[in-house]
Amino acid sequence: MFRQIIKKELEKLAPAGTVFSVSATEKPEYGDYSTNIALILEKKEGRNPKETAEEIKKKLLGNPIAKRLEKIEIAGPGFLNFYISKESLIGGLREVLKKQKKWGDRPVGIGKKIIVEYFQLNVGKPSHVGHLRSAVIGDALKRILKTQGYKTISDTHIGDWGTQFGILIQAFKRNEISLTKQLPRTSKSYAITADPTIKLLERLYVEENERIEKEPILREKAKEEFAKLENGDSENRVIWEWLKVGTENEIQRIINRFDLLQFEEERGESEYNDMMPLIVKEALEKGIAINKDGAIIVDLISYNLDEAILIKTDGASTYLLRDLATIKYRKKEWDFYKNLYVVDVRQEHHFKQVFKVAELLGFEGVGESDHISYGFMSLPEGTISTRKGTVISLDAVLDESEKRALQIIEEKNPELENKEEIAKQVGLGALKYFDLSHNRHSDIVFKWDEALSFAGNSGPYLQYTYARLKSILRKLEGKSGFMVEDVELDQVEKNLIASVLCFPEVIEDALNDFMPNILANYLNQLAQLANNFYHSHPVTQENNVSKKMFRVNLINGVALTLSKGLSLLGISSPEKM
Ligand code: ARG
Repeated sequence: MFRQIIKKELEKLAPAGTVFSVSATEKPEYGDYSTNIALILEKKEGRNPKETAEEIKKKLLGNPIAKRLEKIEIAGPGFLNFYISKESLIGGLREVLKKQKKWGDRPVGIGKKIIVEYFQLNVGKPSHVGHLRSAVIGDALKRILKTQGYKTISDTHIGDWGTQFGILIQAFKRNEISLTKQLPRTSKSYAITADPTIKLLERLYVEENERIEKEPILREKAKEEFAKLENGDSENRVIWEWLKVGTENEIQRIINRFDLLQFEEERGESEYNDMMPLIVKEALEKGIAINKDGAIIVDLISYNLDEAILIKTDGASTYLLRDLATIKYRKKEWDFYKNLYVVDVRQEHHFKQVFKVAELLGFEGVGESDHISYGFMSLPEGTISTRKGTVISLDAVLDESEKRALQIIEEKNPELENKEEIAKQVGLGALKYFDLSHNRHSDIVFKWDEALSFAGNSGPYLQYTYARLKSILRKLEGKSGFMVEDVELDQVEKNLIASVLCFPEVIEDALNDFMPNILANYLNQLAQLANNFYHSHPVTQENNVSKKMFRVNLINGVALTLSKGLSLLGISSPEKM
């Protein structure tokens, strides 16, 4: 919180738009926070940095902010180092405890809408471990954004259009007899009533693909089925609608099992179909798109982005065209402040093309649209492949994680009540945290031992630290609730409070580039400091009442920050573990 306060004061002292940093320092001899503002002003206005720093220091010491500081020092070529006073640290902690569940919330996003698109399942294709990152990162971003006052609209953007539907419809028709035995049909016009299970759709898709591998002509036939669907063929339309239901049910099931926030929108790609002809027309009229050998393309070669295809030679619309329509729709419907796509790195080129074409067409909202890319996660068991049918499903990974969590709990705390329930929370937390604690841009190899370690940088470690703090607080029940000012703090205590008070700044940093790992790793550091603290500082055994009360408050503040931080990552914090 102090960084934000200091920054605000400094902004008043510099010309509008000056870009400078205020950062928490690594070493106590540089104070708690340091700024380069005087050096920036030197570059900008040619002022002597040391003199500027002196001036700024003088002004600040005459401001209310001075009350929060023990001192300001000028160091090196003109850095200003800030030392937060003890009273201010304790006052900060008091504020944390007053805010309770609202700790870390800030109203910076009020009045702004952000679309977060993630967990985009494709109809008929199984959900697999590759979808985990999108779901977990998107869900965490949404949770964090909400606490900063943004109105978030999440959308799954279901893949419900494209040539794979030709394959699925062909498979349906091939299996019609046996399927309709399972699925009551009221008339020959395919009024199919029973919901398909996702397993059935997966099987149809995999089997049909195997047939196509052996008999390539079937691929052409499947394309024709899709073309019929695009042209409004009523029989194919009914089959297609039936196919979609299975995926919609699957999404809801996974939301429940993985404890994801509900989606405001579950719009399929097909819902933008009506807008597409107009976009193509506009692109042709403006001379942005051209007809090339029967296809309609936008030449982006001069931007190093190849050719973007809007309409294929067979007349079918493309994934890219649907994305163009999507931006247009979203901007018009929601007038978003930002429009985020949480999609893996392989689609980087695709999104660059989409944004470039949209820009050329003069669409609004392109500058506010962002591809939140992430790298691959592979399991020790191997990666994924849907076509061949060897998929590691999302459920299989979570089953395994829950099983391992339960084993550990059986070993460590066999007496624990609700072991199965806690193991579920720990297993899920382990998966989510492993994902979120890594920089989303890196490829990661999932490691069970790391993810489930109770001692390392892991979800279970943070949950366990929280549960331990809660157990101390239970022993002290009734003794918390007021703050003592006249207590001496040692360095360990000061560092721990300062770390708690950084929480809002960390949230700000995490949102800067949409990097949940910044929050995850902060929580890990906080947990380490907390563990050091209570190994060296007695609480229940402390005789000095002031000290004891102070430490109870501190533990309360840490516990609050840990559980709030975990909740922003979509991870629960059990009271006992
Ligand atoms: N369903 C797509 C796929 O599996 C991902 C959708 C990404 N979102 C988007 N607006 N293009 O590749």
